[in-house]
Amino acid sequence: MFPLQRDRRLRKNQSIRSIVQETRLSPADFMFPVFICEGEKQRISIPSLPGIFRMSIDELQREAQEIYQLGIRAINIYVKVDDRLKDNIGTEAWNPNGLMQKAIRAIKEVCPEMIVMPDVALDPYSMYGHDGIVKNGKIENDLTLDALVKMAVSQAEAGADFVAPSDMMDGRVLRLRKGLDSAGFSDVGILSYSAKYASALYGPFRDALDSAPKTSDVEVPKNKKTYQMDFANRIEALRETLKDIEEGADIVMVKPGTSYLDIVREVKDHVHIPVAVYQVSGEYAMVKAGSEKGWIDHDQVMMEQLMCIKRAGASLITTYFAKEAAVLLNK
Ligand code: PBG
Repeated sequence: MFPLQRDRRLRKNQSIRSIVQETRLSPADFMFPVFICEGEKQRISIPSLPGIFRMSIDELQREAQEIYQLGIRAINIYVKVDDRLKDNIGTEAWNPNGLMQKAIRAIKEVCPEMIVMPDVALDPYSMYGHDGIVKNGKIENDLTLDALVKMAVSQAEAGADFVAPSDMMDGRVLRLRKGLDSAGFSDVGILSYSAKYASALYGPFRDALDSAPKTSDVEVPKNKKTYQMDFANRIEALRETLKDIEEGADIVMVKPGTSYLDIVREVKDHVHIPVAVYQVSGEYAMVKAGSEKGWIDHDQVMMEQLMCIKRAGASLITTYFAKEAAVLLNK
């Protein structure tokens, strides 16, 4: 009680603040999402994601070494697939010489210590821009699982450390765990996007991969709301997460980040495995746009948001800011 307690004593100067600081960030907290395209020496900018590029594999190798030097230890890979290779079932997703498989091998070749976590979902390979196989105007859960297993096993064969299912089909974690085990990959882990919401913040990511749901002459759902979660829901996030852990997930993820920190904390309080958070493309784009206008301070807002995500309970943060934040932290 005042005047015996004066909380401002612990905020008096930077040294005191630093010894009572409860949460600290380090480059090893970050995972860096990368977008890969065909070709050589390609570094194609993405207008809605300033500072992020679609890279060819040679550029990816340089990038991987650079971020490793900065202290970042994990990469999430997403591929921009040529339209000619897209179909309804995602056949290209398990091509042993597909872009994803080549990207995984290429990173491991130059940076074997880097933890490589390819995305497991059909959307970049789907002619309809959906994470599942479309049949009679619906997304077919169980048929999609067969495709996901083939995809994950081919990624494991290429050298993936973890596979990262982001599609929100029911039962995928168990099927992936069994599929990996029976193919001899019992030590390849699963990072599950367990509580992934149907968010409007994924727009710039879909620009990067040209992977938004498409209109077509057959009936195709216009959005992902039959598989991604309703952002009005909280208990459902816990149910999804606990189920994924029972099914064999090693790391669970909440996505998006900043607007969902109540969910992050709730999940953190209920599980005993690492919780990852995806600070998504729209969150990144808003900070870039606001700071370009001069309305907010880029670096301060970036560090505040990352710190708050960690404070909420994230052990790992997938963020397009990974490099910039690591550079600042290393200063
Ligand atoms: C697709 C996937 C998406 C993101 C990661 N994996 C987009 C979507 O669900 O439509 C979004 C990430 C971001 O916005 O940064 N499986």
